[in-house]
Amino acid sequence: QFCFAKDQIIPAAEASIHPMDIGLIRGYGIFDFFRTSNYAPLFLSDYLDRFIRSAEKTHLTLNYSKEELKQIILELIEKNNLSDGGIRMLLSGGVSENHFSPTDGSLFIFNEDLDFPPKEKYEAGIKLLPIEHVRYIADIKTTNYAFPVWHSKIWKQEGAEDVLYHMNGYISESSRSNIFIIKNGEIATPDKHILHGITRKRVLELAKNVAIRPISYEELLQADEAFITSTTKKILPVTKVGEKAIGIGKVGPETQKLMSAFAKMEQ
Ligand code: PDD
Repeated sequence: QFCFAKDQIIPAAEASIHPMDIGLIRGYGIFDFFRTSNYAPLFLSDYLDRFIRSAEKTHLTLNYSKEELKQIILELIEKNNLSDGGIRMLLSGGVSENHFSPTDGSLFIFNEDLDFPPKEKYEAGIKLLPIEHVRYIADIKTTNYAFPVWHSKIWKQEGAEDVLYHMNGYISESSRSNIFIIKNGEIATPDKHILHGITRKRVLELAKNVAIRPISYEELLQADEAFITSTTKKILPVTKVGEKAIGIGKVGPETQKLMSAFAKMEQ
């Protein structure tokens, strides 16, 4: 297996990070994560744009252009013979003189096995555990997931697949995915305090008239259907939030339609 590190494609076992990298000592870095399908990166342009935007917003220097990143990725896919998998691009804060200020980041690109939720979860839907929380600088894909990693032990104890963030009565997203609701045929999704997901963007294209607006926690509980979207979950139906069933507690017809439409899109 090969990866990109130290400004070149090298055997993955030879990649390393400096212990004083501010990605490690200050939790300062950004990343992005996409899939390949049949040896081709899916929706790559969108992921690269977001990665470049995250670097700019965090004042980290990314010494590669969009086109250069694309070439590295295509070469890695070929060298690793990667048919269907995940690829992570990571720009760590780098080694900074004062161990604090952002600097030229250290870029890593490596592939990972993909672990989709089991089939039963797509058939029965999942439970989300609500928690009052809001991600700060939510539209930047920072590597800081300390809160959900710490909190995940609690969701598991509660039989939930993931968490649902809400604040001041309004919902935003799940720990690693965006959320949509459907009520009387209207599909809606929040826009504030979220990472603008690439899967979310695909759903907006597929469903066309999605209302992008604030959604209260109460409205979610009264919805007919709900689902979350992400690169690693695709479209995953939500049938329970806390102890409350969503709709009749089963995967609804509109969600099913979108799941099939998305499956065609990613071929
Ligand atoms: N998570 N919101 C957050 C906070 C995320 O971390 C992600 C992605 C999304 C969905 O974005 P997309 O559709 O582009 O994957 C929303 C990735 C998959 C992860 O951390 O594993």
